[in-house]
Amino acid sequence: MRMERASQRISQVARVVTDPSVAAGYCTDFTGRWRGSTPLVALPGDTAEVAEVMRICAEEGVPVVPQGGNTGLVGGGVPMGGEVVLSLRRLTGLGPVDAAAQQVTAGAGVVLSALQRHVRAAGLDFGVDFAARDAATVGGMIATNAGGERVLRYGTTRANVVGVEAVLADGSVVSRLGGLAKDNTGFELPFTGSEGTLGVITAARLRLVPLLERRATALLGLPGVPAALEALAVLRSLDSLEMAEFFQAEGLRLVRGHTGLPSPTREEHPVYLLVECAAPRDPAPELHAVLESLHASEIVVAADAADRHRLWRYREAHTEAINARGVPVKLDVALPLGELPGFLDDLPSLVGGCELYLFGHLAEGNLHINLIGGQDPTDAVLRRVALSGGSISAEHGVGRAKTPWLHLSRSPAELAAFRAVKQALDPRHLLNPGVLVP
Ligand code: MLT
Ligand code: ZN
Repeated sequence: MRMERASQRISQVARVVTDPSVAAGYCTDFTGRWRGSTPLVALPGDTAEVAEVMRICAEEGVPVVPQGGNTGLVGGGVPMGGEVVLSLRRLTGLGPVDAAAQQVTAGAGVVLSALQRHVRAAGLDFGVDFAARDAATVGGMIATNAGGERVLRYGTTRANVVGVEAVLADGSVVSRLGGLAKDNTGFELPFTGSEGTLGVITAARLRLVPLLERRATALLGLPGVPAALEALAVLRSLDSLEMAEFFQAEGLRLVRGHTGLPSPTREEHPVYLLVECAAPRDPAPELHAVLESLHASEIVVAADAADRHRLWRYREAHTEAINARGVPVKLDVALPLGELPGFLDDLPSLVGGCELYLFGHLAEGNLHINLIGGQDPTDAVLRRVALSGGSISAEHGVGRAKTPWLHLSRSPAELAAFRAVKQALDPRHLLNPGVLVP
């Protein structure tokens, strides 16, 4: 009854989708693991409409799942309890690039690749980049504090946000889009990384970085992860280093089968490290000099931009190739670099009979552990991660998938503080119930 009344009222203030066949596209996650349902998808066109939708939901006591590009991997944007989906995809406004401040204001629904085109036309760039750039949105990136491939140089999304505008659970709007780099007037409301549980992000003032068009990319074939870590230690002497991504022979075989791409190297290697440098001046000479000092089994250097994108594809196509193989259990962990070799030695026995595809962001010790078939070994793997002082979720967030293990990475005092913040900002648990804060 309340839901019916809310749906009717929402449809008077915003565009909605109620046709189940269309709404279904908002109810399933990227991996196919999470499949929910909703009576209504609200598609507001501006912040005022988002506020109206939230006010109605608060008055009717109806729960809401905020959603961006729906590229999340932990079930954090899927209506598993029949909630209203509040899609921010129509909030696609992009302000002028402020070259002096190196900032831009973007609506929550702006897709990362559209943001990149906009700011690159002005000679600047956004510091966060990853494979889902054609679908992931600014709001979702902030809500999950997305990481990706350039964290070693520019940090996670958190480091690239100056301020956020958000709608709270009661429909009130809080806005920090003024772009002041210095503003110590109290604490920051914790929307970044809140996964839609504390407010609905509607826009953001983003920090930009100089556009570095001179790039040099190489793929290293290596005997194992310890050798990759040794190479990384040397490569880090380069100021221009921007990316150090790794994958393994098993994943590469899957990617090649899925994409039809030829082998990138003459021989197959247990581990591959994809590195990229970017600088105002051609970084190739300094990268090549360092590469010569490494003991890699094989090194392939990209000749031009097309070649660079071809090398990226071997790494970036992992997610889709794995999805095509089956519905994966996706674990996204981070370990101190010194702990990685020992953890990786233990991993095969922890995952039992599952097919294991491992890739990730080496500089942050961020492993994407993808498992297909067999018994779900999440509990054993995450406990082992915690033993090494690692994080049970490096960059994908907690969502619904990881809440049972959050206590492995967060202390009782921290979890109590999480609950207190949630209680203060969303006392009726209308925003993304079941996600992050149990
Ligand atoms: C990536 O690094 O490609 C993403 O985190 C996606 C994934 O882990 O599947
Ligand atoms: Zn990743």
